[in-house]
Amino acid sequence: MEGKSTALIRKVKAQGHFTAGGAGPGARRATFAEGRAGPGFDFLPADSFMSSPALPLIDLRSDTVTRPTPAMLAAMFGAPVGDDVYEEDPTVARLEAATAARFGLEAGLFCPSGTMTNQIAIKAHTEPLSEVICEQTAHVYLWEVGGIAFHSGASVALLPGERGRLTAAQVAAAVRPANVHYPTTRLVCLENTHNRGGGSCYAWDDLVAIAGVARRHGLPLHLDGARVFNALVATGQRAEAYGTLFDSISVCLSKGLGAPVGSVLLGSAAFVQKCKRLRKAFGGGWRQAGYLAAAGLYALEHHVDRLADDHARAARLAGALARQPYVAEVLAPETNLVIFRLHDDCPAGDFLARLGALGIKASGFGPQWVRFVTHLDVDDAGVARVEAALLSAGG
Ligand SMILES: Cc1ncc(COP(=O)(O)O)c(C=O)c1O
Repeated sequence: MEGKSTALIRKVKAQGHFTAGGAGPGARRATFAEGRAGPGFDFLPADSFMSSPALPLIDLRSDTVTRPTPAMLAAMFGAPVGDDVYEEDPTVARLEAATAARFGLEAGLFCPSGTMTNQIAIKAHTEPLSEVICEQTAHVYLWEVGGIAFHSGASVALLPGERGRLTAAQVAAAVRPANVHYPTTRLVCLENTHNRGGGSCYAWDDLVAIAGVARRHGLPLHLDGARVFNALVATGQRAEAYGTLFDSISVCLSKGLGAPVGSVLLGSAAFVQKCKRLRKAFGGGWRQAGYLAAAGLYALEHHVDRLADDHARAARLAGALARQPYVAEVLAPETNLVIFRLHDDCPAGDFLARLGALGIKASGFGPQWVRFVTHLDVDDAGVARVEAALLSAGG
């Protein structure tokens, strides 16, 4: 019996060339917010993807899919290690100190994931019956399993941002007045770049204005910096200056920087000490983690400047998408994420299956929305292959 993927390949081959589809009369425009109401990531079953044996898979689902380069692996194998729960792993200590120094903060805590660094930071800054201010599609709220309620017993004030970006006025208006009916506002949390906003970056003046509001209200400011280096490279802002605005920063090494595992939570020495106890309670105290920290150090030293290449490739993909008749809208890429909307007669699931049959994976972001992410394992030849595949992927 012919499998689903085989049938798709036949269909793509039989069509040869793309024939224009378009929205058609009376087509309804799905909004980006509608995508949010859906499950977020719509993963296709594994057998929906079929790579030609001659061509390697191109995985545009996320920048988390990269594998360590040979040079990174060599750094990992050669790392001096010890038991990090005894604070005896020199490579972990070096990574924590180096990351903190870059951002002008006192100390760092190496953790397995960005979810853990965010959730530990939120727990350290809040208590039950308090409230966190964040954007309504923030990763800490939307994609961390409701962890704020579960771990911290805190409420969340969700604000609608422009591609994930909040304004100082919005934050100021969301701070709760003292009243027995309300939770107590305890934390402002920003995300830069913003994942659901399509890799959008904050302007420096806007960060300064929000930090000013937080200071005036005595609120700490946390940054989910899963892709903070993408923001720094794209805007030319300085990492060290971030330490003057943020009380805590979660920096991911396993996204655009290409390390296999790990995030570092930064803050004052006292804050990080508190977080270290929380990490132990979360089960995140680890032993010879220096092998992983060595990958992070290698990434910090060698993979930051090259993020500009990912950004250029994302811009190139956005241009190719904008030329396709079945693409209704492309959010202008600011970094390495490209989010786009397909016309209603081109459902995202069908589009992703057609790309999958051509050996290209991407993420669905709702019924009509799709996300492409460029990273270390996507080179110019890969982008050219995606550009060619887009000519037939509309159906
Ligand atoms: C903005 C943002 N924050 C946090 C995370 C969580 O990182 P992790 O997957 O390491 O838990 C992600 C993951 O993609 C993310 O995009």
